[in-house]
Amino acid sequence: MNENCLSNGINWVGVIDWNIRDFHGYITRRGTTYNSYLILDKKIALVDTVKSSFSKEFLDKIQEITDLEKIDYIIINHVEMDHSSSLPIIAELAKNATIIASQRGKEAIIEHYGENFPIKTAKTGDEIDLGNRRLRFIEAPMLHWPDSMFTYIVEEKILLSNDAFGQHLASAFRFDDEIEENVLMEEAITYYANILMPLGSLVSRKIQEIVKMGISPKIIAPSHGIIWRSNPSKIIQAYLDWSIGKSKMKAVVVFDTMWNSTNDMARAITKGLISEGVETKLLKLRSAENTDIITEILTAKAVIVGSPTLNQQMFPSLGAFLTYITGLKPRGKLWSFFGSYGWSRGAVKSMTEIAKRAGFEIINSGLEVKYVPNKDDLKMCFDFGKEIAKKIKS
Ligand SMILES: Cc1cc2nc3c(=O)[nH]c(=O)nc-3n(C[C@H](O)[C@H](O)[C@H](O)COP(=O)(O)O)c2cc1C
Repeated sequence: MNENCLSNGINWVGVIDWNIRDFHGYITRRGTTYNSYLILDKKIALVDTVKSSFSKEFLDKIQEITDLEKIDYIIINHVEMDHSSSLPIIAELAKNATIIASQRGKEAIIEHYGENFPIKTAKTGDEIDLGNRRLRFIEAPMLHWPDSMFTYIVEEKILLSNDAFGQHLASAFRFDDEIEENVLMEEAITYYANILMPLGSLVSRKIQEIVKMGISPKIIAPSHGIIWRSNPSKIIQAYLDWSIGKSKMKAVVVFDTMWNSTNDMARAITKGLISEGVETKLLKLRSAENTDIITEILTAKAVIVGSPTLNQQMFPSLGAFLTYITGLKPRGKLWSFFGSYGWSRGAVKSMTEIAKRAGFEIINSGLEVKYVPNKDDLKMCFDFGKEIAKKIKS
C-alpha cells in the first residue's frame, strides 16, 4: 500500500490546491484539497471528481493506476463545482462508466453541465456490487446541498462523506495520524462553522440515522482535507457537540469604528466580561475575517456587537457581518448591541432590528454613548460587560 491508499485497492486520487485563499468568501489560509477516490475491484468505481482547473493532474493520476475506459462507475456525491466540474471531461474519456448520483444530484448535474451523459439515480440503501466489496448509498439532502449523498464501502467500513467532516487544509499528508491534531481540529471547526452551522439539526439527525443503520465507520474520508482513520468517532462527537450549539463560558465582542469611540466602548465591555471570569474574544471587523469570527461564535454563549452610527445606519462592515451570521443561524446565543453616535443615533436600533427578525435572543436594550466615551461612560460599559457575564454564567 502506498501513502495514498485507504485500504488495499482504495486510492486517494485527489489534488492539492495549496494556494487558494478565498473559497467563495471563506478565507482558506491553509489552502484545500479536492478528494476523489478510485476503488479497484472486479469492477472499478471513481467517487467524486475535482475542480476543473486541476483536471489534467487528476486524469494523469487516475491513468497511472488504470485506463479510463476500465472505469465502470463514476459516483457524484455532490454537484458543487469543486467536486463535479471535472465530470464532463472524465465522462467523455471514461466511455464505459455509468454515472451515479441522487435524484436531486442528477437534476443538478443537468443544470450545471447539460444533458450530455446518462445518469443512474441512487437512493438510500441502494448498493452496487464491485465484486469483493459493495458500495451503499446514503442520501444526505441539505448536508450541505439538496443533492448531497454519502457512499459507504460496506466491507471495509469506509464512509466517503463528501463535504461532511471535511476541512480546508492542504497537506502533503492524507491521514489524521500524520498531522498535528490542533491544526486539523482548528480547520474542522472552521469548516463546520462556516458551511454546516445552519444545518445543525440535520447533522445530528443524519448521524443518528447512520448509527441506526448499523454503520460504524472505521474510516471517514471527506471530499476536502484530511482522512479520519485513527479515531473517526472524535470528529463524529465534535459534530454532535457543534450541531446542538454546545457553548463554553465565552463571549465574542465584534465591532467596527471610525474614530475609536466604539473601540473604547468595546474594550471596556471586554474588561467587564473578563472581570467575571468569562473567556472573551474582542474582534474588529476589517481586521479579523468573518470566517474566523464565525468560528469563535460557534462555541460562545454571548455575542456583543458594536457599531458607530454612520448616516443614521450601522457601519457597512456590520451589515456584511450581520447578513452572514443571520444566514448561519447560530443556536442558543445571547445577543447584545452597543455603539457611539453623534446626534440622531441609528446603528444600535438597526442592528437590533436585524437580530430580532432573525429570531436571536436579545438580552438587554443595548448601550449607546454620544461621541467620545468619558470616564463615567467607560464605567457604564464595564458594568454592561459584567452584567452580560452574569447572564452567561447563570
Ligand atoms: C461620515 C459620518 C457620518 C455620520 N453620521 C451620523 C449620523 O447620521 N447620526 C449620528 O448620530 N452620528 C453620525 N456620525 C457621528 C458618529 O457616529 C460619531 O462621531 C461617533 O462617535 C463615531 O464613533 P466611532 O469613533 O466609533 O467611529 C457620523 C460620523 C461620520 C464621520
